[in-house]
Amino acid sequence: MELRLKQRLGRKFDEEIRFFKGWMDGPKRVGAILPTSGITARRMASVINPQSGLPVLELGPGTGIITKAILERGIAPEKLVSIEFSTDFYQHLIRTFPGVQFINGDAFDLGRTLGERNGEMFDAVISAIPMLSFPMERRIALLEDLLDRMPRGRPVIQITYGAVSPIVARPERYQIRHFDFVVRNIPPAQLWLYTRP
Ligand SMILES: C[S@@+](CC[C@H](N)C(=O)[O-])C[C@H]1O[C@@H](n2cnc3c(N)ncnc32)[C@H](O)[C@@H]1O
Repeated sequence: MELRLKQRLGRKFDEEIRFFKGWMDGPKRVGAILPTSGITARRMASVINPQSGLPVLELGPGTGIITKAILERGIAPEKLVSIEFSTDFYQHLIRTFPGVQFINGDAFDLGRTLGERNGEMFDAVISAIPMLSFPMERRIALLEDLLDRMPRGRPVIQITYGAVSPIVARPERYQIRHFDFVVRNIPPAQLWLYTRP
């Protein structure tokens, strides 16, 4: 087998093992059975505007597949802030993506978790946190908090596996748009966009 293919398969396997270990520690917190596919990650990163000059906020990077897609979209590592709850994933991420500001903390406690970056504006939020594992009021509060940290009209994109938006509609507060259904993801993934009207 070609060496590059062998290395690629080795890396993928390594990511899946790491993911599975994270899953064993807290299945509800991880919220998926396998890492996100590269296709899904690129679809999510496509909503970023690399020309805005603003940093990007990522939630729940896990093994870093979406992180990689964000960087490949043309975002400099210093312009990416990424919050991961699991210390195991966090340790792996800081070694794999030097320059990215990973924060080992809780995305639901955003003000405190962002620390000295609290108060900054972000171009977009790319979220893989397992929303369905948290009560609806907390999902809504997090979404509103995220939207307040972005220019009006810029999106929060959220991956989920259910058929409906994981955050209920509040048309007077925010708009919800179905962005994509990615079949080449295990399980197939739904992508939702949230913006201020
Ligand atoms: C579905 S997994 C992300 C998968 C990732 N895209 C990948 O391919 O590896 C969800 C991630 O969100 C993290 N997470 C769960 N709750 C969180 C929270 N409150 N704050 C930050 N991260 C959280 C989990 O530790 C896990 O890494």
